[in-house]
Amino acid sequence: MYDINKVREDFPILGREVYKKPLVYLDNAATTQKPLMVLDAMRDEYLNVNANVHRGVHYLSQQATDLHEAAREKVRRFINARKIEEIVFTRGTTEAINLVAQSFCESQMQTGDEVIVTDMEHHSNIVSWQLQAMKRGIVVKHVPIMDDGLLCLDQLEALITEKTKMISVVHVSNVLGTVNPVEQIIKIAHAHDIPVLVDGAQSAPHFKVDVQAMDCDFFAFSGHKMYGPTGIGVLYGKEEWLEKLPPYQGGGEMIDKVTWEKTTFERLPFKFEAGTPDYVATHGLAKAIEYIDSIGFEAIQAHEQQLTKYCMEQLLTIPDMHIYGPKDTSLKDAVVSFNVGDIHHLDMGTLLDRLGIAVRTGHHCAQPLMDRLGISGTVRASFALYNTKEEIDALVAGIRRVSQMF
Ligand SMILES: Cc1ncc(COP(=O)(O)O)c(C=O)c1O
Repeated sequence: MYDINKVREDFPILGREVYKKPLVYLDNAATTQKPLMVLDAMRDEYLNVNANVHRGVHYLSQQATDLHEAAREKVRRFINARKIEEIVFTRGTTEAINLVAQSFCESQMQTGDEVIVTDMEHHSNIVSWQLQAMKRGIVVKHVPIMDDGLLCLDQLEALITEKTKMISVVHVSNVLGTVNPVEQIIKIAHAHDIPVLVDGAQSAPHFKVDVQAMDCDFFAFSGHKMYGPTGIGVLYGKEEWLEKLPPYQGGGEMIDKVTWEKTTFERLPFKFEAGTPDYVATHGLAKAIEYIDSIGFEAIQAHEQQLTKYCMEQLLTIPDMHIYGPKDTSLKDAVVSFNVGDIHHLDMGTLLDRLGIAVRTGHHCAQPLMDRLGISGTVRASFALYNTKEEIDALVAGIRRVSQMF
């Protein structure tokens, strides 16, 4: 276990007040706060290094390029990818999924071919495929979930046909916290020669991801949900798949040679990185990974699991509390979604906010999941490595207070 007070000093924003109340920040699934180490590194790069990467012969450009490419190597190690060629920088999870959806459907799918997702996807892993359905007539199918928020894994096989060309699943649900058995899903998919994309937006910040051990074909995540800056994310893709996919966007950086007659493309991963990359953000992401490494996932996971368990126990002492997702905290991760009686989630969230408590309310970009649960939304508390039991006590006291007002 680590010294939580010392950790909190790395995040000055946690010491601020809102409405003259100490801030209790429990909206980490939306975005995490950034440690000084990340902010200082990015400021320092703008102050002392700033120059466009890859194309400059001058000192600053080379230094910025070195930082940018060192970040790629840091990301490679973070998820244990085989090669840096397999690490594509994107703006975030959303862009990473869109890249695969567009390039994969264009090159590997025909009208009538199928992609399978699940009932607990974030919109980014639904709409990206629906856009392709509209453009190319592919079919989007979805694996149902059980009432306890676990995937109906036995239904996956039944959905697979010879037209299934891709399975794209969320690793950890941003609403239910459910940790999906992706290794099992990948084994089933590969037995049918179907590649798998894993949406790791909510897993990469919380536990060690090993893409080789998992054997996924693609893995997407966002820097800003793991203590890094906004505007930077990662698409991991197995080299053999990335080689097969056409570029996602055209522009500088991604070409080998351009003539009016014919254009050839850069080698991996640059083929997928058109335009000036956010090279300061990649450096910030590398620092965020260093920060996580300095604490270690074992300690982070133990701390967050303890918080999740404590939060569930405490919430269940409140009358009319309904928690969504698995009750067994070993099957979920750092996210607790709930409603109290018929108090509207928006009312609950707004009144908690006046007490200084930041939670998320609404459909959490998962409207099909809300339909499945028969609700319009939930209140969501989500945790990071810097949250404390005292903050959960504040949340629970806040909910009791709000409940008494109704
Ligand atoms: C499970 C999941 N997938 C995808 C996303 C999209 O991430 P981003 O907005 O960083 O692209 C989110 C964001 O909340 C998410 O929770």
